[in-house]
Order: sequence, then C-alpha cells, then structure tokens
Amino acid sequence: MTNPAPRIMPSDQDRVLIFDTTLRDGEQSPGATMTHDEKLEIAALLDEMGVDIIEAGFPIASIGDFEAVSDIARQAKNAVICGLARASMGDIDRCWEAVKHARRPRIHTFIGTSPLHRAIPNLDMDQMADRIHATVTHARNLCDNVQWSPMDATRTEHDYLCRVVEIAIKAGATTINIPDTVGYTAPRESAALIRMLLERVPGADSIIFATHCHNDLGMATANALAAVEAGARQIECTINGLGERAGNTALEEVVMALKVRNDIMPYRTGVDTTKIMNISRKVATVSGFPVQFNKAIVGKNAFAHESGIHQDGMLKNAETFEIMRPTDIGLSETNLVMGKHSGRAALRSKLADLGYELADNQLADVFVRFKALADRKKEVYDDDLIALMQDSTTSAEHDYMQIKHLRVVCGTEGPQTADLTMTIDGVDHSVHATGDGPVDATFAAVKALFPHTARLQLYQVHAVTEGTDAQATVSVRMEEDGKMVTGQSADTDTVVASAKAYVNALNKLILRRQKTKPAEAARQA
Ligand code: KIV
Ligand code: ZN
Repeated sequence: MTNPAPRIMPSDQDRVLIFDTTLRDGEQSPGATMTHDEKLEIAALLDEMGVDIIEAGFPIASIGDFEAVSDIARQAKNAVICGLARASMGDIDRCWEAVKHARRPRIHTFIGTSPLHRAIPNLDMDQMADRIHATVTHARNLCDNVQWSPMDATRTEHDYLCRVVEIAIKAGATTINIPDTVGYTAPRESAALIRMLLERVPGADSIIFATHCHNDLGMATANALAAVEAGARQIECTINGLGERAGNTALEEVVMALKVRNDIMPYRTGVDTTKIMNISRKVATVSGFPVQFNKAIVGKNAFAHESGIHQDGMLKNAETFEIMRPTDIGLSETNLVMGKHSGRAALRSKLADLGYELADNQLADVFVRFKALADRKKEVYDDDLIALMQDSTTSAEHDYMQIKHLRVVCGTEGPQTADLTMTIDGVDHSVHATGDGPVDATFAAVKALFPHTARLQLYQVHAVTEGTDAQATVSVRMEEDGKMVTGQSADTDTVVASAKAYVNALNKLILRRQKTKPAEAARQA
C-alpha cells in the first residue's frame, strides 16, 4: 500500500496544505505549453520549496502529459504527486498508471455538477450521483489518496452539492475540492459555502476541504483565504496565478498573505517563501507569460519605491512603506553592478543570491555568455543576469534548429534584408530574404529555411534595464492547428533576440507535434 493521504491532525488545525496546479490548470492556459524537461524542473522546484501536493498533469490528455506525470512521480522527494482524471474508469486507470510511481500518489477525479455542466453528459441528478459513487470507489480501490471535485461547485444547488459530496466521502474520497470554476464567487459566499458543507454533510469532519478559485473577477486570493477561515485546509493555486482566462489563485499571494497577516489569519503553510522569486521567474520564462510589473509579491515594481517621499521614508525605516522584506521572497537586497572585470567567483555568488545554484560546467558556460554581454554592455545588472540565465535555458544545443549567423540591413530605404544561416537537424542552410522592416525580413528568412503554417499570434519586446545598450527580451507566441507555443530570448540586439525567440517557439512546436500524437489510452477511452 502507498503512504497515506496528507492528514491534518486535530492538534494541527492551523496547517493549510498548498496544492500547486501550475503544471495542470496553469499549463491549460492557451500558449503556456511547457516542454517535458521544463515540467520536471518546475516540479523539482515546487517540491524543494515545500509545496504539499503537485498536480502534475492530466495523464489521459496525451502521451506527453502521461510521461510528464510519470516522470515527476518518480523524481518527487516529498510532495504528493497528483494526476487529474474525468469521471470515467479509463481516465482513472490511466491516471493511476502515471501517478503510481510516486512515493505518495493521489488520483484527482472530477465531474461538473452545476445544472449547466450536468446537461453536457446528459445525466440526470440520480445518474450523476451513481457515476460519482462508482468512479470514486474505483479510484479508491487503486489509491488510498483520492481527491474529488464537483466542477462549478459555486453554481451548483446547495442540496445537490451536499448530496454528491456525501456520496464521494462515503465512496472513499479523502479530499473534497470545491472549485469556483468560472471565478464567479465572492469572499463572503466562498466562506459560507465551506461552512455550509461542514455543517450539513455527514462525515465532512473526516476529510479535508480544498478551495480552488479562478480570478475572473480579481477575487481568487480573497476567496481562497475566506474559504480557509471557514474551515478549508487546502488551497489550490498556481505560480504567478497562471491559468486559463484570468488565471488561478496565485500561490505567492496566499502564502505571503498568511505569513504577513498571521495576526488575523493564524494559519501556516510548509512553503519556504525565499524560493518564491526564483520559481516565479522560471514559470514566467517557460510559459512565456511575463509577470505584470505591478503584480502583487512577484511583479518587478512590487518592492520598488520611486516617489521621493517613499524613498526618504524607506531610508529612515524600511517598515514605513514595506510590509514584507524583499529577502522574504528571495530577492537580493542589493543590486550590485557587475562588469567585464568581475570574476567567476563573483558571478557564482551573485547568481546564488538570485536563486541560481550552478554546477561547475554550467557556470563555465554562463561565464562565457556573461563576458560576451559585459563586453557589449558596460554595467550588468541583476535583471541582465536573470535574462541571461533565462536565455540559456531557452536555447539549447540539442534543439532541432539553431541560429548560426544573422546579418540584417535596415534603414530609411527599403526593403530591409536578412542573411541568415541556421543549423537544422545538424545541417547548415543559408538564405537571403527581404521584408517590411528588419524583424519581418528576419522572420521571412527563418520561414524560408523552415517552411511552416504556424501563425504568429504575439510579438512582444521588453527592455530589461534602462539605457540604449539595454538587453531586450522578446516573446513570440505561435499557433498551429489550435495549439499554441511561446518562445523567448534576450539579447542586446533586438533583432537577434527576435530571431532566437521565433526559433525557440518553432523548436517547441516541433516537440509539441510529437507529443500530441493521440495517446493510445485516450483513443480507447
Ligand atoms: O476549475 C476547475 O473546476 C478545475 C477542476 C478540474 C478542478 O480546474
Ligand atoms: Zn481550475
């Protein structure tokens, strides 16, 4: 038998479990596709930071999802590894096949219970109740840690919600999750719903209630915290609030709110908050969803004090305008400038401050890139180093195609031209292309060497720091047959960064094409 489900003991009533679904609900966000290796890396960071449960994916969805969940299950050291399954025996079996490798596996099965969702499988209330009983029983026969979710719970009739929650508990569910699937609820209602279930459902005190909120009305964090105050002891969330539409509850927000306002919300999580910034950057890079500058906790401006009055107050006493320390989330307090005379040891120590622990061979590679950057740019700031680290994770030697040489001619007289050499599957190819501007000419050259039908959905450029020698980070989102991928890159030359981001997206598209060949099990389901 596997290790038992995480339990909250009566003596530990202030402990709130953190369930991270960045790799499942987060990845479901159109365009936020991550590669297999990126998923494993994020799962390792989540495990290391003390997240209790990692929802690693939806194993029936594709072979790629299945393999990612299985490999994350094998690598996890502490966290419970959970997979999602619809209310069907085929889904649940496939989910178990993937999570069973974990030291602590969990099956999460769900069905939409609101009137609108009941109409989709065309089940009446009794038929749906029977399906819930059968599928939760089946899951529990495979795994002793089973989570059940009535999707769209916040728009489900209360009597029916009580009835199906009771059925799921009797069938063996150890966690009951209450999703606000469309981000419709508000804090008072979110609390009242949990309180109502605790009062009315027999056996409710023997399981853990979870809260799963979406941010359509900007209330996901408030709704999750209200549910905790009412008795929920698991918060479902994602890094940076990544997720479909307006996203999910942001992990960093609920964890820091519970830490900073522990005086009025006396609950604990097991998360090491100093790891927040590093994982936030990682998720932003691999998902291609940049964090908005004024985003709570992890936004670039969250700790920046621009106004004279604020700066003066901060210098006298940081608490005047700061309710938490930057170091609480893993931001270094100083922005020590590096330059071309900085040595390897200084770089290693600076990167460690920024949350990057590198092996000697990785440091050697990053040091070469750092020297090249410092040659072009007099002062190298923290943000430059972060962009450099992110770039080294997005451009890999084993990529199907890489840019070898690019020369672009631009100016007031058109057309602009690009001469490009790319290594594609180990062979060099060159082309000359023209376009309406340097980026258009460059993209035309890439397309001439690697013809494809993917459509460019988004092209975004950000300056990493100030000054005309600043690096640019470029994000490119592309769509092919309804599937989206995002590429990113950074360089002091905006056109080079653009070319590398475009090629990064195409490399992901190739991986995606291989991954989404329908899973054998999915065909049988
Ligand atoms: O939002 C939702 O309802 C979900 C369920 C699958 C739990 O993500
Ligand atoms: Zn969701």
